[in-house]
Amino acid sequence: MNENPEPGHPDVIFCPGGPMLLRGDHLVQDEAGNEHRTTRPVSAVCRCGGSKIKPWCDGTHKAMHKRSRD
Ligand code: FES
Repeated sequence: MNENPEPGHPDVIFCPGGPMLLRGDHLVQDEAGNEHRTTRPVSAVCRCGGSKIKPWCDGTHKAMHKRSRD
């Protein structure tokens, strides 16, 4: 967990219709209770439920959003 986020640079960001971005080191627990450590400077956590690589976002939310508009 990023204990000292810079002012104006939050370490958790919710993207409208998309993932939750985590800046820095975090430990994420999936629905099955498995723990996943972030490995990138910014990691995207799926919030739509459609990703094939949960808990991470794989971009599926874009297709789901498009389908809901069609
Ligand atoms: S939020 Fe991106 S695949 Fe679910």
